[in-house]
Amino acid sequence: MRQRRERNGILVARTTVLDSVVYAADSPGTMPHRERYLFVCTNRRPAGHPKGSCADKGSEELVSKLKAAIAEGGGKATVRACATGCLDLCEVGISIVQEPEHVAYGYVTAADIPELASAALQGQTLARLVVFPAAKG
Ligand code: FES
Repeated sequence: MRQRRERNGILVARTTVLDSVVYAADSPGTMPHRERYLFVCTNRRPAGHPKGSCADKGSEELVSKLKAAIAEGGGKATVRACATGCLDLCEVGISIVQEPEHVAYGYVTAADIPELASAALQGQTLARLVVFPAAKG
């Protein structure tokens, strides 16, 4: 559910479900909402933890590589890569979730980043890395 109102002359939309504030793309001086997000788990657990963690597998490096690949592809305004906490996909980490497609990727490596960025820039998903497809409605 969204609520719209003005704050200091800027149209603001509040998404109550996500509890986040989204600034309208046509408001001057504000960051546009991206069409697509890639959330990269960078959770780090203590050494020896039985679940392990994506950070221990090198996910922090993948965030910067993904950002660079998106920028090289000309997609900074439309696709955003973000570091996030545990996605509860530890057993298939390094894990990444792509929204709005609501698709989870697993076992991601640095070698996958160019193809992953390219798919996202084209509004597609990368089937070979999908571990949990979007829920069918
Ligand atoms: S530590 Fe990355 S999904 Fe849990």
